[in-house]
This record gives sequence, C-alpha cells and structure tokens, in this order.
Amino acid sequence: MLITFEGIEGCGKTTQTGLLADHLARRGYSVVRTREPGGTPFGEAMRELLLKKDMDVDPLCELMIIMAMRAQHVDEVILPALRDGRIVLCDRFSDATYAYQGSGRKIDTATIDTLNTMVTKGIRPNLTVLLDIPVEKGLRRRAASSDMDRIEGEDLSFHQRVRAAYEKLAKEDPKRFFVVDANLKIEALHNLIRAKVENTLKSYGI
Ligand code: TMP
Repeated sequence: MLITFEGIEGCGKTTQTGLLADHLARRGYSVVRTREPGGTPFGEAMRELLLKKDMDVDPLCELMIIMAMRAQHVDEVILPALRDGRIVLCDRFSDATYAYQGSGRKIDTATIDTLNTMVTKGIRPNLTVLLDIPVEKGLRRRAASSDMDRIEGEDLSFHQRVRAAYEKLAKEDPKRFFVVDANLKIEALHNLIRAKVENTLKSYGI
C-alpha cells in the first residue's frame, strides 16, 4: 500500500505524514515513512544540492536529477517495502513532478510520462492526500519557519501554477486523490486523513 502526500509549500503535509505514521504504527501496522526528493542516502545527499539557493539549474537538468533520485528511491526503499506488505507513506512522489516540473517549469507531460514510467516501474499510489491551501498563505507559513530554498524561492505565479496543477490532477483522478482543506487545524486535518486511510485499508482488506 503506497500512500502519498502532496501540496504546495507550507501546506503542512510533513506534519500530517508524521502524525499518520505514528497513528498507524500504534495500530500495529508496519509503516515506512519516506520522502522525495530524497528517501535514500544518495537521494538525501542530492536533495541538498538540488534545493541549494543561488544556483542556475536548467529545467531539464532538474527533471533528470529528480527522476534519477526517484529510480534509486523506488528500487532501494519503496519496492522492497511494498513487496514485504508494508504501508509506505511518502511525502511527495510522481504528482509533484507533474505539478512542479510540468506546470511550474513548463516541461511537457509526455516527457515526464516517459521518464516517470521508467523510474517508477509503473508503481502508482493507492491513495494520494492533497493538502490544499492558498499560495500566499502557504508561502507565508513557509517563510516564517526557515529560509526559503531554491524552489520555494520561485515567484508567486510559479507556485500558483503548481497549485492549479495539483487541483487538475485531483480532478482527473478523483478515486485516488483525497483533497483536504489545509486551512483546518492540525488535529482536525489528522482526523479527516486518518478516517480516509482507515477506510482505504479496510477496502483493501488490510
Ligand atoms: P518538500 O517541500 O516536500 O520538502 O520538497 C522539496 C521541494 O522539492 C519542493 O519545493 C518541491 C520540489 N519537488 C519538485 O520540484 N519535483 C518533485 O518531483 C518533487 C518530489 C519535489
């Protein structure tokens, strides 16, 4: 079972991934919590470089690096965990590439499709939780917590394209996406997500 968390900067998905991981572990499930970009020793080292401020990175270069990291992550972490019947909670996955590199950087979908199918080996999330929040609010939250990295530091219109892309992805695949209002308080959001995940697990007989 692969559950992914997506949303724009400052939407609170990392907090929610952690709360859900703790909850599922308490219920006795074997949970792997991971993230992209990163998730492996190689990926985490590359993440630092990828997000480092004040560097010029060509959109296609950025896409290739992210895909290379995903290939490693799928092979080393996600596939083995899924084969062992574990629940994988991943903070960002393929949808982020369509939103950020596709709509944000304006790379065509066909190119992303080709590379993504290759590196994911066709793995798709069983459930994707999309935390939706207005761009200005998300960026304000983000700016208040620490320094903005290279991608976070993109202009407002970039982040607006990312948010719109996520909305479109969710509309196109309503069965997989669970869209929640990230304006809600942390606990209220967690309760909504928990209920949805428990139903999903039940529907898979897990
Ligand atoms: P984070 O906000 O979840 O820590 O992710 C770091 C950044 O990585 C975030 O600005 C979005 C970006 N990203 C992409 O641009 N494309 C991708 O495919 C992924 C997984 C992340």
